[in-house]
Amino acid sequence: MELLDQIKDKARTLQNRIVLAEGTEMRTLKAAEIVLKEKLARIILLGNPQEITELTLKEGIDISGAKIIDPLTNVKRQHYAEMMVEIRKSKGLTLEDALKSLNNPLVFGPMMIKAGDADGEIAGAINSTGDVLRPALQFVKTLPGVSVVSGVFFMLFKDKSIGDNGILVFADCAVMPDPDEKQLAEIAVTTAKTAKTIANIEPRVAMLSFSTKGSAKHAMVDKVVNATRIAHEMEPELMIDGEMQLDAALNEEVGQLKSPGSLVAGKANILVFPGLEAANIGYKLVQRLAGAEAIGPILQGMAAPINDLSRGCSTSDIVNMVAITSMQAG
Ligand code: ACO
Repeated sequence: MELLDQIKDKARTLQNRIVLAEGTEMRTLKAAEIVLKEKLARIILLGNPQEITELTLKEGIDISGAKIIDPLTNVKRQHYAEMMVEIRKSKGLTLEDALKSLNNPLVFGPMMIKAGDADGEIAGAINSTGDVLRPALQFVKTLPGVSVVSGVFFMLFKDKSIGDNGILVFADCAVMPDPDEKQLAEIAVTTAKTAKTIANIEPRVAMLSFSTKGSAKHAMVDKVVNATRIAHEMEPELMIDGEMQLDAALNEEVGQLKSPGSLVAGKANILVFPGLEAANIGYKLVQRLAGAEAIGPILQGMAAPINDLSRGCSTSDIVNMVAITSMQAG
């Protein structure tokens, strides 16, 4: 069974409550209809109920199984605002400012999750990554023991000889512009766990650089060398190696030539890029030029799943992300 079908099957059994924060956005409404029809999750739409109803009637979209919540009038506003003040008391957040922030569905959604009223959230079809992530980082925060939220893509290839049965996992393609060595190590360890959880991949992690095993000397290379060492210390059992170039990571012959004896070189199924620039450009190159299907970004490290869509996303991208978010919520 293909990866997405497996994820959807799992989501169906979980029936988690997923918030779609952009409840008046057309692709989102069409996705809600499909999710409900396919019974992938329970849906909570945020927005003005009258506006949502008018839009769905006009377009003939059936979202009768969805719960619609208006952040401007919901009875939980005071409760959420008090929670926000408590979470951000060291930052001096006032009740008045918290109540004002809750008018924004991108704040209201994470607060529903924090209060246990929802299991996951998706937004980003009409909002920037930063605007989706900032309230999530401020109020939902990270998992215990994790300090860095990052984003992975599952790159699916028709050629099943690539990676793990046609799957390569790329990180961090979405969040940390310039991780330091400790943050890069954390991204590697978290990505290995995500690969295992979502696709049952036995991780072989390549820490990418423009150098393989000392072939170049530069502070940027040192960062990757140190990150690999720290990741080893964090997870001694994890199969991880670096620094290595992309060809050494993926091609068996080049891998053994440049990094003899490595258990990862030539066999990597997880590629950890040294920074967001390389990772974000890298996944798009592979998507556009190699025709791989890019599933993500799937955010990891957050205390509850909140995922960001691309503004160019399709209805089916949103449906897939609902299933993934539900699976992450467990
Ligand atoms: N992990 C955990 N916490 C974080 C992270 C992170 N990666 N980044 C920021 N935070 C925390 C901060 O410490 C801060 O906490 P505090 O307010 O309690 O002190 C809070 O989150 C908010 O941080 P800010 O500094 O206010 O927000 P910032 O401006 O740093 O924004 C953001 C963070 C939005 C993630 C930023 O790093 C960003 O815009 N990254 C790039 C996103 C992007 O554009 N990606 C490419 C597009 S996605 C795609 O193409 C697939």
